[in-house]
Amino acid sequence: EQIKKGSYDHFMQKEIHEQPHSLTTTMRGRLKDSGVVLGGLKEHLKTLRRSRRVIFIGCGTSYNAALAARPFVEELTGIPVTMEVASDLLDRQGPIYREETAVFVSQSGETADTLLALEYALEKGALCVGVTNTVGSTLSRKTHCGIHINAGCEIGVASTKAYTSQIVVMAMIALAIGSDQLSTQPRRESIITGLSSLPSHVSEVLKLDAEMKELASSLIDSESLLVFGRGYNYATALEGALKVKEVALMHSEGMLAGEMKHGPLALVDENLPIIVIATRDSCFSKQKSVIQQLLSRKGRLIIMCSEGDISAVGPSASCRVIQVPEVADCLQPVINIIPLQLLAYHLTVLRGFDVDQPRNLAKSVTTQ
Ligand code: G6P
Repeated sequence: EQIKKGSYDHFMQKEIHEQPHSLTTTMRGRLKDSGVVLGGLKEHLKTLRRSRRVIFIGCGTSYNAALAARPFVEELTGIPVTMEVASDLLDRQGPIYREETAVFVSQSGETADTLLALEYALEKGALCVGVTNTVGSTLSRKTHCGIHINAGCEIGVASTKAYTSQIVVMAMIALAIGSDQLSTQPRRESIITGLSSLPSHVSEVLKLDAEMKELASSLIDSESLLVFGRGYNYATALEGALKVKEVALMHSEGMLAGEMKHGPLALVDENLPIIVIATRDSCFSKQKSVIQQLLSRKGRLIIMCSEGDISAVGPSASCRVIQVPEVADCLQPVINIIPLQLLAYHLTVLRGFDVDQPRNLAKSVTTQ
């Protein structure tokens, strides 16, 4: 086991730092100047394009990855996308129709809730697409078609490298579905360029490791941590908070910044740490106003912004700032989650908990 961890202390740490490589293998042979080549979808692209709706279905981190993909899948395909936590879809027996496409996202391909939702969608006659890291898994065998994320074996219970590879695969799926639309070609080309340079930007953001360790040491005794995001980075807020709660065993909630004034604002005081994701995209000015509102209530803020943007986000001297490299807006979630993965990792080690095998959790939940 020690050998497999190489120079790292834990699998989670190794898997976080592996991401420039895992993302490269995810994209290998699939990116071309003019578009993407996804052998696993080729025969179903026409049906996919005609879908009345795309339904993303998953659990935990895989659900969050699908949520991160939702905005750009809608943008590049023009198809409405709805989100389903697998267990909730089953509880409600939610409607699914044959003209729809259900995309199942699962690192292991063996999560019971996701597989039961798959059986349900197959019965309803929807086109079922799998996005998994596990070749030969039940998910990859039972779906009509799909894409392997090729992130390499993930051992830490908390999913890290699979999350970023899942987002990248869904970006490639969106590019493939939308590839017949002339009007969005320049946008598609810029995303493809962004994908090719993504691994090097991930290497850059990993240099924040020491800074995140220091931030973790300042949060070690906090009881709770909030993360505010919106747009492309709503999922980043949910996933960052999930990492902190599952491994560091600290209460943490990811929240939609647009909902702040409808409840969470009541929690704000000078003690509760709040991470606000305010990197550059079309929601930037709204996030700036969220920061101002939080500051006027004396919030204890940690602001994540694009490199060189400190003065533009206008924090007060009391704020901590995490600066991350700026990439294509829809790929920014891949970059932004990494400091939060590092934070959760260091927080766990400093609080003395088991990083790779958190209390009460399993890597793959194969029972309902
Ligand atoms: C468990 C794991 C999570 C994972 C979730 C979904 O809860 O602890 O890390 O995100 O299952 O797993 P899957 O293999 O379907 O992605």
